Amino acid sequence: MHVKSSAPGNLFLFGEHAAVYGRPAICAAVGKRTEVVVSENNKDSVTILSDAFGKAEILPEPAEKIRTEKKELENVALFVRDIRKKFGIAKGFDIKIRSEVPVNSGMSSSTAVFCSILGALSAFAGKPLDKEDYFNIIFPYQAKVHGGKASGSEIISSTFGGFSYIKKLKDGIPPKIETKNIGGHKFHIVIANTKVDAPTSLTVGYHVPSLMKRDAKFVYGVFDKIADISEKAIPALKDNNIAVLGELMNENQKLLSSLGLSHPKLDDCIKEALNAGALGAKLSGGGWGGIMFALCLEKNVAAVKKAVASTGAETIETEIGVRGITVD
Ligand code: MEV
Repeated sequence: MHVKSSAPGNLFLFGEHAAVYGRPAICAAVGKRTEVVVSENNKDSVTILSDAFGKAEILPEPAEKIRTEKKELENVALFVRDIRKKFGIAKGFDIKIRSEVPVNSGMSSSTAVFCSILGALSAFAGKPLDKEDYFNIIFPYQAKVHGGKASGSEIISSTFGGFSYIKKLKDGIPPKIETKNIGGHKFHIVIANTKVDAPTSLTVGYHVPSLMKRDAKFVYGVFDKIADISEKAIPALKDNNIAVLGELMNENQKLLSSLGLSHPKLDDCIKEALNAGALGAKLSGGGWGGIMFALCLEKNVAAVKKAVASTGAETIETEIGVRGITVD
């Protein structure tokens, strides 16, 4: 037996970090995806082969010990072991993970991996899930990857695809959330990967909480301003008003910078993009590196791409608002 699943990475158009503290965020699924193939292996054990992180094995019961070539696969192997148990999968299997989503970049590579594994394993077990089920199952693992806290926004975006509004209403594991689908839109964006490795656990689990300890009023004040931006973006998205969206992106970026969440290389790319005619540009995700994206008129895409590439960053061409998880 053989099951294939694919889930998109995503971008925070607005609201990262603030979303962890109950403010709304707007995410869009991107055309870079993670594909997972699960096949029966006629053994008792599980083998995970990742194009980014090599091999991991889950040895047979009762110990079900995990062996990984690289530390980065540990959370994935633990997730696979738990999901295998949850769905009562007794037979052994191989999992192949192939991802187009750059790791530690702000495009939610870990979420795309968790979603596609869950999709494939639930189907492999003969118990396919509804999209609504993914959030509750994945949330604890997502929070661990993000340094103990998370909004869960990326799980909704990777699962449902398109453009999503997500707001945490009550903390918990999983938290209570409100979500809205904000329809389909065709925007031209340029993504640049600064190649500065930026684990979200550092900003979410360490930097923001340390700022809050010293000046909670300031941090919550900034998060409230970011919340206003996310709310203002909804009508602008509905009207395809890219001039307003660009301005809102720039404001959101300034607020993230005021919390020390940008990076000189992100600032470098953002400046080049805006000078080359982008309407707005901001980081996405945890910050301190990873990617930035710029919203452009179609006629400016080539110039913006050239300008950000001149910084040495890698440009990524892709669509946004693509479909969510698929399982075959
Ligand atoms: C990380 O990609 C986005 C954050 O807002 C964390 C989260 O939403 O869980 C920084």
